[in-house]
Amino acid sequence: QLYDIGVIGLGVMGKNLALNIADNQYKVAAFDLDAHKVQDTVQQEERERKQYLKQITEPRILGCNNLSEMLSKLEKPRVLLLSVPAGAPVDGVCKSLIEAGIESDDIVIDTGNSLWTDTVEREQRYSKDFAFFSCAVSGGEVGARFGPSLMPSGSLTAWNRIEPIWQAIAAKVDAKTGLPIERFEPGNPVIEGEPCTTYIGPAGSGHYVKMVHNGIEYADMQLICEAYQLLHQGLGLTAAEVGDVFERWNQGSLNSYLMEISADVLKQADPLTGAPLVEMILDKAGQKGTGLWTAVSSLQIGCPAPTIAEAVYARAVSTQKSQRQQLNQLLSGPSESIKVEEQQAFINQLENALYCAKVSCYAQGFQLMAMQAKEQGWQLDFAEIAKIWRAGCIIRATFLQSITQAYQQDSELENLLMADTFAKGLSDKQHDWRIAVSTAAMGGIPAPCISSALAYYDSYRSVTLPANLLQGQRDYFGAHTFERTDRPAGEKYHLNWSSDRCLHKV
Ligand code: 6PG
Repeated sequence: QLYDIGVIGLGVMGKNLALNIADNQYKVAAFDLDAHKVQDTVQQEERERKQYLKQITEPRILGCNNLSEMLSKLEKPRVLLLSVPAGAPVDGVCKSLIEAGIESDDIVIDTGNSLWTDTVEREQRYSKDFAFFSCAVSGGEVGARFGPSLMPSGSLTAWNRIEPIWQAIAAKVDAKTGLPIERFEPGNPVIEGEPCTTYIGPAGSGHYVKMVHNGIEYADMQLICEAYQLLHQGLGLTAAEVGDVFERWNQGSLNSYLMEISADVLKQADPLTGAPLVEMILDKAGQKGTGLWTAVSSLQIGCPAPTIAEAVYARAVSTQKSQRQQLNQLLSGPSESIKVEEQQAFINQLENALYCAKVSCYAQGFQLMAMQAKEQGWQLDFAEIAKIWRAGCIIRATFLQSITQAYQQDSELENLLMADTFAKGLSDKQHDWRIAVSTAAMGGIPAPCISSALAYYDSYRSVTLPANLLQGQRDYFGAHTFERTDRPAGEKYHLNWSSDRCLHKV
């Protein structure tokens, strides 16, 4: 018998994707360089089948010993899903597949967090050997197992071939409510609802969209962390009390997966000492690079995404613990921590501030995707992108439904802040946002993301910015010229600052 799809790389993501595909009645051939991982995947399939699917007796996953064996077991044109670390390993497997006899109409799908430009290059490089396709995956281990958000891009022929599998394995959203349909049981996939996958566009676009998803993820996480520090260090709430506040916030407009897990993390006691676990976790943040790529891309293309960049910097500052310890002895701050008149009132203001900052950072991410799409000639459908982020992915949040609706009403929306619902929401809540930022500043508690999000909001609502003085400075030292407010755009002027101070049209 022939198998529907080959999964190469059986780490956490690969194994769970393979099991998810098998649950959706597709037959999987699986391979990993580490034979133990192959065995582990096959055994897990068997255990789950015996427990949950008693009527099925045949194994749904075949463990392969090598790539040649895998290729011989697959239906043609073959579909191969790669779940290996981004970078050199992807090319390593592609090379091995060529050696093993892959054919030109076979499809190889990279599901890792690859750099989008690498994906563009790979589609070209392997075009004679096979169809290189990509599909960015969000949702971590549980998402991969029971329904991730999938961002496929590349040739439409390849997409048409894999679309039914992708729709089956993706997370599902209730079409009426826009909320995730969650079911975490092996052998029993969610079949109703709207699947969180859509064809994003040409090669690289899916990975770009996932990269921006991750940039937003970095900012969203950091925003929640800043709120935690304000409540814990500032107001003196215990970790568990902050967890309670987050649980309450999670019932309202801040409802999101990241808020939910943050509450859970804060309420967890350390199994070793009994102290709040969060206080036993070293405050040095790791990163694998996708947030950094987002910030770099925003700088390269000239699209402001300050909150995403600040989130990357916040992780960097966190790693410099010994410098922070030294400077703590040298630099003074306010004598008292934050001062608030009424604790509950401040908590409510912070909730509004967090909502505003979150909208601001999503606005930055969507604007970045729009600018890059224009540059690359991609036709990105932002309503669809917001839709497939409503479930399965790490940044899933109730308010993605409002983003979906905003783009459904106006697909050309230049900036999310222009959508009625967000313009009104932020205008109503901006006062509380300012209280949160100023309280943090006066209390000496860093809140780089909440503040930079506000600076973004204020910059975009400013008709006049001090760039006039900046242009004057540039013209002064470098004769870089400036345009005049009373002359047609594009007309350049220079003043002879160091001599006769005459004005010249250049
Ligand atoms: C997802 C996540 C995932 C990412 C991790 C780790 O959407 O499932 O974005 O792809 O790799 O969250 O990212 P960092 O190690 O950079 O925090």
